[in-house]
Amino acid sequence: MSIANAGRVLFGRTPKLTRNLAQISSLKFYSSQMPKYEFVKTEKVGENQNIAVITLDRMKGLNLLNNTVINEVNDAVFKFDKDDSVSVLILTGSEKAFAAGADVKDMQVMDYSQAVKEEFLESWTAISKTRKPLIGAVNGYALGGGCELALMCDIIYAGEKAQFAQPEITIGTMPGAGGTQRLTRNMGLSKAMEMVLTGNYMNAVEAEKAGLVSKIFPPDQLLAETIKLAEKIASHSPLIISMAKKSVHIAYETTLKQGLQFERTSFYGTFATADRKEGMTAFVEKRAPKYINE
Ligand code: HXC
Repeated sequence: MSIANAGRVLFGRTPKLTRNLAQISSLKFYSSQMPKYEFVKTEKVGENQNIAVITLDRMKGLNLLNNTVINEVNDAVFKFDKDDSVSVLILTGSEKAFAAGADVKDMQVMDYSQAVKEEFLESWTAISKTRKPLIGAVNGYALGGGCELALMCDIIYAGEKAQFAQPEITIGTMPGAGGTQRLTRNMGLSKAMEMVLTGNYMNAVEAEKAGLVSKIFPPDQLLAETIKLAEKIASHSPLIISMAKKSVHIAYETTLKQGLQFERTSFYGTFATADRKEGMTAFVEKRAPKYINE
């Protein structure tokens, strides 16, 4: 669904979203500041134009991944990461596929030494390093490297017809961009092992039940709902958002003791920021906070 249609879906729900619609429908495209990509579209949307939508667009919506696609995604993500006017990033695909995986025809002719020498997949996990919240809006297939790309997002919203799978085992290989690790951390040993060893598809309802996906929506409402979520997040301090995001991720990377210590230090750190002071003062004064990202 186009961003303009996403706006239409939201039309009339609330006065605020009605205002959003006007802005979403007359999108200010970002092309003047962003390079033209071959397989990726970028747009800034939302009432405050502070939500960046990065849309994969290759092979009639199948969105097969290769180094060029990944480099374009990385470039877009890190340009928005540095852009202070953007608070939240959304990564999405087509209604048919978020991404149907790596191009098997490219991999078929690759050998071990080439994979090692070229550090194949090194750049494929880069987006997980963005400081800003990255939300995956997944419609259709998220397979292999496409599933792994979704797993690098901080939150996944999915369309009711989304399908997740790691089918690498069916073509004589295994996940290489985080699937065995992130799936296991997200939904535990048994479900992750079943997916990785069988290549079986997991549908949207199962994925939500397993905790892989936060919420599911009719496909034509997915992007609109994801933008709504992004705008809610973007209404908070960007600085504190990045601190909180980092702290949640630390839960996956350290022991509980170290994670709790990191969280406490970060919490104390918020008391050194202008935005923490503004947030609490605004609450006491019964007004909306005005954050300055400091
Ligand atoms: C190369 C692919 C492809 C892929 C589809 N095609 N997926 N080519 N690599 N991953 C090609 C098909 O061969 C076909 O080409 C055309 O795209 C359309 O595909 P169809 O199968 O006709 O379409 P459809 O019936 O709609 O089925 C869509 C599909 C199916 C469910 C996505 O194509 C499929 O299962 N593809 C394989 C998906 C997969 O295994 N992904 C994981 C790859 S491994 P022609 O020439 O016949 O028109 C991976 C490892 C990553 O991602 C490593 C770490 C990052």
